[in-house]
Amino acid sequence: MISSPLSTTVHAAGAAFDRLAPIYDQKFTDTLIGRAQRNAVWKVLLKTFNHDDNILELNCGTGEDALFLAQHGISVMACDASQEMITHAEQRFEAQTTPLPVVFCHLPTERINELAPVRRFDGVFSNFSGLNCIEDLAPVAASLSQFVKNGDRLLLCFSTRVCLTEIFYHLALGQKRKALRRLSGHTQATIDGVTLDVHYPSLHQIRRSFGSHFRLCSTTGIGVAIPPSYLEPWARNHPAAFRILCRLESLLARVPLLRSTGDHVLLCFEKVSV
Ligand SMILES: C[S@@+](CC[C@H](N)C(=O)[O-])C[C@H]1O[C@@H](n2cnc3c(N)ncnc32)[C@H](O)[C@@H]1O
Repeated sequence: MISSPLSTTVHAAGAAFDRLAPIYDQKFTDTLIGRAQRNAVWKVLLKTFNHDDNILELNCGTGEDALFLAQHGISVMACDASQEMITHAEQRFEAQTTPLPVVFCHLPTERINELAPVRRFDGVFSNFSGLNCIEDLAPVAASLSQFVKNGDRLLLCFSTRVCLTEIFYHLALGQKRKALRRLSGHTQATIDGVTLDVHYPSLHQIRRSFGSHFRLCSTTGIGVAIPPSYLEPWARNHPAAFRILCRLESLLARVPLLRSTGDHVLLCFEKVSV
């Protein structure tokens, strides 16, 4: 594992996630729901990238996916806007032996072009909503297009604009504002007193942002039957029902329309010539 500090400037989302980093794995990665949603992403991840590929990972967090990729013979350059997330990721790797090196880099996605032109990758991966912290995705798409060749793929997991489970759950509790919070396309989240902007682009908007360089080749729902992570206490108290939802997930994940109304959506784009 090699760490490469390219950036030292403060980044709003990075500062917010710095606060979450020490408890991120406990609050998400190691939960029943976090694990079930990540397993669903990993199934697609292994079908998208190949052994010996070299992947650029955006918003890598505490490095759970980088470790998984490295264990499957895929080398990774993993970036994040949060120095604390990067530090936790590096610590995770200290305790592991992986067949391939992982390079961690404290670098916000908005500045990913700073890696060019020296870098070439076989694909790009972004998991669990890091790209929802970016207001304008088109410049990011343009930067990413420099790193990969025609036919190479991006696998990007976004929080959706419409999450049916969230809407029904909060409406049932009479919490209309929470039920509808994603629908305007933008909200502010507060992590331990630090506020960050979160964007919920529609599928159409995402396609448009990436469309000059990439073609959408598949859409997989993540968290269509599996609920959002704040329902972890319910999942723990209802293990049989949760197991049924996990089985239903793979059936519903590919159903047109429904697949874009889960907690997340996983989009596979292919680089095309312009
Ligand atoms: C919900 S976490 C997901 C982390 C990791 N991908 C995972 O699967 O567990 C979102 C991550 O995005 C990072 N992030 C948010 N905005 C970012 C940006 N503009 N550039 C790079 N990373 C960003 C945060 O620091 C955080 O680590």
